[in-house]
Amino acid sequence: MSGEEAPTQQREEPEQQVKKAEEPKPEPESPAAVKPEEKMEEEEEKALSSRALVLTGYGGYEKIKLQVKTMKAPQLRSGEVLVRVKACGLNFAELLGKQGLYELLPAPPVIMGMEGSGVVEAAAEDVKDRKVGDRVIAMNRCEMWQELVVVPAKRTYLMPEEMSFEEAAALPVNYMTAYMMLFEMANLRPGKSVLIHMAAGGVGIAATQLCQTVQDVTVFGTASASKHETISQGGVTHPIDYRTKDYVTEIRKISPNGVDIVLDPLGGSDTQKGFSLLKPLGMLIAFGAANCVTGQKKNLLAMAKTWYHQLSLNTLKLMQSNKAISGFHLGYITDEELFDRTVLKLLELYRQGKIKPRIDSCYHFEEVAEAMKRMHERQNIGKVILLPEPKKSEEKPKSNADAAENVEKNQAVAGEKKDEAVEEVKAEKD
Ligand SMILES: NC(=O)c1ccc[n+]([C@@H]2O[C@H](COP(=O)([O-])OP(=O)(O)OC[C@H]3O[C@@H](n4cnc5c(N)ncnc54)[C@H](OP(=O)(O)O)[C@@H]3O)[C@@H](O)[C@H]2O)c1
Repeated sequence: MSGEEAPTQQREEPEQQVKKAEEPKPEPESPAAVKPEEKMEEEEEKALSSRALVLTGYGGYEKIKLQVKTMKAPQLRSGEVLVRVKACGLNFAELLGKQGLYELLPAPPVIMGMEGSGVVEAAAEDVKDRKVGDRVIAMNRCEMWQELVVVPAKRTYLMPEEMSFEEAAALPVNYMTAYMMLFEMANLRPGKSVLIHMAAGGVGIAATQLCQTVQDVTVFGTASASKHETISQGGVTHPIDYRTKDYVTEIRKISPNGVDIVLDPLGGSDTQKGFSLLKPLGMLIAFGAANCVTGQKKNLLAMAKTWYHQLSLNTLKLMQSNKAISGFHLGYITDEELFDRTVLKLLELYRQGKIKPRIDSCYHFEEVAEAMKRMHERQNIGKVILLPEPKKSEEKPKSNADAAENVEKNQAVAGEKKDEAVEEVKAEKD
């Protein structure tokens, strides 16, 4: 299916990770792999506790369990850092992943999450450009939804001082996707027009802000009516309520010749409509299939409908139409130089005040079901963030019956109950 994705390589299956963390401590001559930070050896002796959101099978919200693991400090391999995660991004890809529709997510049991931010807690000896205490953005193909995560140092980026952990977690996937599509693929230039679907969502807001960095760009944005005021303030020139109006007709009323660029995260009949709206020499970029998703569980009818209505053309017809179609998927970007260049450019734009992630809401790990529901029910304007930190008892509880059911205290002290920890996860797989 579609979706997006995250950038780097998965480290290990969670099961292996648990085992790895429980391996006996190396002999005194081998721990050279870890930078000799003060009290490091003492730290290794201590048991670490880490909360993680584990997808235990495909289906509804109840398939995501909050587990608490206790383990020894991970032995870092060359090039790795251990990050204490402070905030994580929720992406549409995880809605797809939960339903088994995201091809880059390994099979359950798996810890989800592709992006986050936090503080470096340890670094391998050969890592020279990150140190303990650094505030970083971190990315991984999955496994970011946990308190302690090991990632390649090259997939971490130093956060600007003024950036909050929530903003840092909201930036990578949405802004990289929007930036690469607009500037690397579509070559956005002054005076052009862009149609942005899901304009009040994470990628939509990122794309709108990036359009503002170029002179005289007209943005048509589709979103639910209640979100129009916010997206207009954010830079959408013409907000369109796709739920009550035909957006093709609305756009043609304003711009009879159509638009130069269409960013299409929907698929199916919307790709056909988007293509029909392109001006000569215009470009449509297909980057998602949100039309396949109608609720928390897989909808085969919606999938079939999207598939049936997909745009199909031959190259002769394409040539005669003078239009371009391309596809984009961040998860399949393997060019590390392009990857780094894009993140660094985005951080520069952030420092210049030209982009700023809009945080819709923050949910503690216990409330993951509520967070996903917010996106499924199309309530979010901007990014939904997950916080590993436990919810404080004095915090007003959100109306979230599901969340309580999802908490699964899986206290497995390394070396004592390790099989239990692994088995409990496996049991959910079947
Ligand atoms: N290819 C890639 O590399 C890549 C990377 C990132 C994201 N994406 C794609 O970009 C799209 C946006 O992703 P995002 O993470 O930024 O999510 P998001 O836009 O925050 O998603 C939620 C919002 O999208 C709108 N929406 C439209 N159709 C929906 C549906 N079927 N279910 C739920 N909401 C729907 C809703 O707003 P309204 O009420 O305004 O309709 C909703 O509030 C997704 O299709 C995703 O797969 C692709």
